[in-house]
Amino acid sequence: MKLNSKVALITGAGSGIGRATAILFAQEGGKVALVGRTASKLEETAKLISGDEVYCVARDLSRRERAQEAVDECARHFGGLDIVVNNAGISRQRSLLETDEALWDELIAHNLKNPFWLVQAAVPWLARRGGGVIINISSSLGLKPSPGFGAYAMTKAALQMLTLSLAQEHAKDRIRANAICPAVVDTPIHETYLTPDGAQQRKEEMARFYPLGRIGTAEEVARAALYLASEEASWMTGTTLLMDGGRLVK
Ligand SMILES: NC(=O)c1ccc[n+]([C@@H]2O[C@H](COP(=O)([O-])OP(=O)(O)OC[C@H]3O[C@@H](n4cnc5c(N)ncnc54)[C@H](OP(=O)(O)O)[C@@H]3O)[C@@H](O)[C@H]2O)c1
Repeated sequence: MKLNSKVALITGAGSGIGRATAILFAQEGGKVALVGRTASKLEETAKLISGDEVYCVARDLSRRERAQEAVDECARHFGGLDIVVNNAGISRQRSLLETDEALWDELIAHNLKNPFWLVQAAVPWLARRGGGVIINISSSLGLKPSPGFGAYAMTKAALQMLTLSLAQEHAKDRIRANAICPAVVDTPIHETYLTPDGAQQRKEEMARFYPLGRIGTAEEVARAALYLASEEASWMTGTTLLMDGGRLVK
């Protein structure tokens, strides 16, 4: 058991990478607080977790007061907080010149305000435990953009900088902050900007771009998050794990 009764708050835990991470962390002995916008999705994830060390809080984390409430409620429920996986986010496909103010605001709200408010609320709880771990789920597009995803890529690049700033400012509190940068992973996120058929077609097209011949799975990203959350990564902070099936070296 890698997480022996550690309390982990996982955002966006109602689907995709967040759900896979919650299930794996619970299997590894963690107590898991599931946070996301839609209560029914969080409850579906909770049903997949055996045992009663799971707690759900539905809030829109792009709103500062809601993020504070979510963190406080989870930490009070379990009597503290050890690990935060900042995973909730959205993806949108639009060229730079077609990115209007509404789309830009939406991306900033859900991909940047959301993790920023969350860590502001969570750091004091982690520090109170004598240390903790923050894992930000960024994107390979935060390191190298792709046409049509410029605005999304900008939000993920900024999340990288939040990771570094946290590592720099809070090592004194024994808080480690690291990022994971996945390339395309098979989750419902692609259906938010493509039809289900379009999403399937895109996944098949993308698979051909990867030297390993396929896109990633949510469970693979969850395993990387588990490593960063565990004591096995005790000397790692301010680091980025790129998970891209070899795309960068192609
Ligand atoms: N899948 C990929 O190809 C890929 C690649 C690189 C990086 N990522 C990143 O991985 C993370 C997880 O994505 P995923 O692929 O697992 O997608 P997903 O299945 O769509 O999950 C995203 C989750 O975030 C939640 N969420 C979004 N905005 C929120 C807010 N303001 N407050 C609370 N919850 C919010 C959503 O909840 P609701 O549905 O209830 O709104 C949803 O459950 C995202 O940050 C994404 O950018 C994904």
